[in-house]
Amino acid sequence: MKLFDVYPINNIVIEKAKGSYVWDDKGEQYLDLYGGHAVISIGHTHPHYVERLTTQLNKVGFYSNSIKMPLQDELAEKLGKLSGKPDYQLFLISSGAEANENALKLASFHNGRKKIVAFKKSFHGRTSLAVATTDNPAIVAPVNQTPNVIFLPFNDVAALEACFAEQGAEISSVIIEGIQGVGGINIASEVFLQTIRRLCNEHGAVYIADSVQCGYGRSGKFFSHDYAGVDADIYTMAKGMGNGFPIGGIIIAPHLQAKHGMLGTTFGGNHLACAAALAVVEVIEKENLLQNATEVGQYLMDELKKIPQLQNVRGRGLMIGFDVPEAFKDLRKNLLWKHKIFTGEAKPNVIRLLPSLALRKKDVDQLLEAIKEEIQVDAESIAK
Ligand SMILES: Cc1ncc(COP(=O)(O)O)c(C=O)c1O
Repeated sequence: MKLFDVYPINNIVIEKAKGSYVWDDKGEQYLDLYGGHAVISIGHTHPHYVERLTTQLNKVGFYSNSIKMPLQDELAEKLGKLSGKPDYQLFLISSGAEANENALKLASFHNGRKKIVAFKKSFHGRTSLAVATTDNPAIVAPVNQTPNVIFLPFNDVAALEACFAEQGAEISSVIIEGIQGVGGINIASEVFLQTIRRLCNEHGAVYIADSVQCGYGRSGKFFSHDYAGVDADIYTMAKGMGNGFPIGGIIIAPHLQAKHGMLGTTFGGNHLACAAALAVVEVIEKENLLQNATEVGQYLMDELKKIPQLQNVRGRGLMIGFDVPEAFKDLRKNLLWKHKIFTGEAKPNVIRLLPSLALRKKDVDQLLEAIKEEIQVDAESIAK
């Protein structure tokens, strides 16, 4: 049997990983500034993470949501404290798309409405409603198409107000990334998020903060939406939550009420997934990783801004992007193949940096030196 060929693949086999580094099958070391799509939050194979998962696996790896699982309560308790939302409720699933799918459904159960406001350049996942709210027609199958999703321009307060003035009574929810990831590291303005909060309050709509990529401390605050000083009704999370173990979650404001059978999943919140998520939360707290993300992220951004050839350096914490001018279009490729540094991209010309929240300044310096060398090389080859 062959694999279903949907991924463009780099010809690299990773056999070992530690902290912000991975090694291939030839023993070559790479600096990982992408964390496999922003997933590695506390660093690869963190000893506490490995220990907690191994111990759990030797006790019980899985049972379904039909029995009591104290690990889920422990996770909810710790997450409530770390996120500053102790009165919210936790529902566990296994991926980011599933988190958004359940959030959109829950909003609709809550207010009985059908319409969803989403934004240009959004990415919310590939399951049916999540993909319908994603601004990329190429990945929306005919069966996923729905007239219920209204796409508005990002950060356009007037367009949002006009939409609510016209259709407010029909709008079930507004879904927004605090910082768009796949769309190219675009920060939602504070006034925009505050306007969403106000309009949702006025019209009985549910504010869904997609924090799958920009959440879990990546921005330096637990949720990037926190920068606007507003509380969303539902936060969706995945990626960094399990440091590679598939787990996602939604945290739900107290006024949204649960009913037996309303949501459900076989794998979500199993013993092993909870052990992984607990290990992540414990390491984030013990090693002060939100502060590290803020400090090292600021250093990285400040230093990138000093390189005049890089345009629009932007981001928060360790979620950073910049535009690469046409003259240096091979920069990302060269960083990988010549300098052994993994970075991410967003079409058409954005380099995205989504490293572990435990990244050190010396790792940043390695990237900066490599970029400067490449830009020098490219500038020289252009001059010839
Ligand atoms: C903001 C955002 N939401 C949702 C998703 C979907 O997550 P998953 O791939 O775990 O389904 C992603 C994945 O990149 C994302 O970046």
